[in-house]
Amino acid sequence: MPTTTDVMDRLVSLAKRRGFVYPSSEIYGGIGSSYDYGPLGTELKRNVKEAWWQAMVREREDVEGLDSAILMNPKVWEASGHVAGFTDPLVDCKTCKARFRVDQLPGFDPSFLVGAGPAHEAAGGGVPVPEEPRLTEEGRARLQCPRCGSRNFSDVRKFNLMFKTYMGPVEDQASVVYLRPETAQGIYVNFLNVLNSSRQKIPFGIAQIGKAFRNEITPGNFIFRTREFEQMEMQYFVHPSEADRWFEYWLEQRQRFYRDLGLRQDRLRLHRHAPDELAHYARAAYDLQYEFPFGWQELEGIHNRGDFDLSRHEEFSGKKLSYFDEAAKERFLPYIIETSAGCDRTVLTLLVDAYDEEGEGKDARVVLRFSPRLAPIKVAILPLVNRDNMDGIARGLFESLKGKFAAFYDDGGSIGRRYRRQDEAGTPFCVTVDSQTLQDETLTVRERDSMAQERVAMAQLETYLKERV
Ligand code: GAP
Repeated sequence: MPTTTDVMDRLVSLAKRRGFVYPSSEIYGGIGSSYDYGPLGTELKRNVKEAWWQAMVREREDVEGLDSAILMNPKVWEASGHVAGFTDPLVDCKTCKARFRVDQLPGFDPSFLVGAGPAHEAAGGGVPVPEEPRLTEEGRARLQCPRCGSRNFSDVRKFNLMFKTYMGPVEDQASVVYLRPETAQGIYVNFLNVLNSSRQKIPFGIAQIGKAFRNEITPGNFIFRTREFEQMEMQYFVHPSEADRWFEYWLEQRQRFYRDLGLRQDRLRLHRHAPDELAHYARAAYDLQYEFPFGWQELEGIHNRGDFDLSRHEEFSGKKLSYFDEAAKERFLPYIIETSAGCDRTVLTLLVDAYDEEGEGKDARVVLRFSPRLAPIKVAILPLVNRDNMDGIARGLFESLKGKFAAFYDDGGSIGRRYRRQDEAGTPFCVTVDSQTLQDETLTVRERDSMAQERVAMAQLETYLKERV
């Protein structure tokens, strides 16, 4: 295996070469931290969303789906606390004019950041930031600009991460709208709509998958942190007295989800937020972390948000959002347990987790060991040679399978090279039509990880695949 620092470089290059992920608008030199998903990446991402939707909505009676708009009434973001508090602490290097998140400067220690007012976690995570932050003398003496080496930094400034634009033809303060920085608020403001139209009773949840936008100061690590990304969020509404129990329940469920995706267990762990790390809305929070080549990082956040969101939306909208429990004859404001995952981040995790190199010389291969359920292509159909009707039979086989499985037909190049191409795409099964097929209507099925080959009757192939992908 390559060293950990190499892995990301190799993955980025494989992702582009094989059509998982391309830099966005590349022919114009790209644009910072935006990426496009190619044919294989699109399938992989769809499979991730499908697995999440299946586990969180379809297999449950107590969770409903939603697809809310990206543009919302700007009051939503005042109520949510994002206008006032969704900020990261910035400093400028006065010498070379470069700008940094102060907590990401080499050698930074949280004790360097002091100031008046209560501390809340930075929007980008990682560090508690006081209401009016400033650097201590020690911080100023120790921190150094990674670009030019100067220690001459500006005061700490709070930078709001929401993208702003204008709605309609007039560009004034009254027409400012924001691109949503999380999908969660679309769920809170629809709490009563969904409750009334679905006839759910508490406890129940609302789930949605959708784009979110954050003007991150330091995006990076490929698709790990970008300015446009997709979230998969579920908000579960509970009686306040049951919040702790449901928090534990969802913690367990979400860990199970990643186990079921086939991720290596030793690369997953939970990190509990200390009180000074908690976001402004959270009473308790865990990060579900994965060990990336660049270190342990958050894959998903699981939060007990208390009644913060519904009470703020009640206050700002003037509408009652409480729930009346008919059986107990009790009216209350539900608490919310949130599970918030990044779709792109899950795709990166799957790529990192699946990436493997083995063998040497002409036997060397790069293989993506995706679980078959997530693999972009489930089966490749390959004629050994393009004669004696082997290609005709293979084509017919492909035609009969393509509506049922993500199938791929390839008749170009040596069989060894075609196998390698499918290994790089993470295709779990390659089916070869060879000379024996002409005699007894059996096929060679090659399994990706073991490279073991077995003969399967053509008539049995569909059943064989159904049992395995
Ligand atoms: N509603 C709560 C919320 O948005 P968060 O911890 O800020 O919580 C949740 O984000 C998840 O969204 C993260 O765990 C991560 O997977 C994903 N995410 C957040 N910012 C991201 C970014 N800039 N790029 C890619 N994914 C991001």
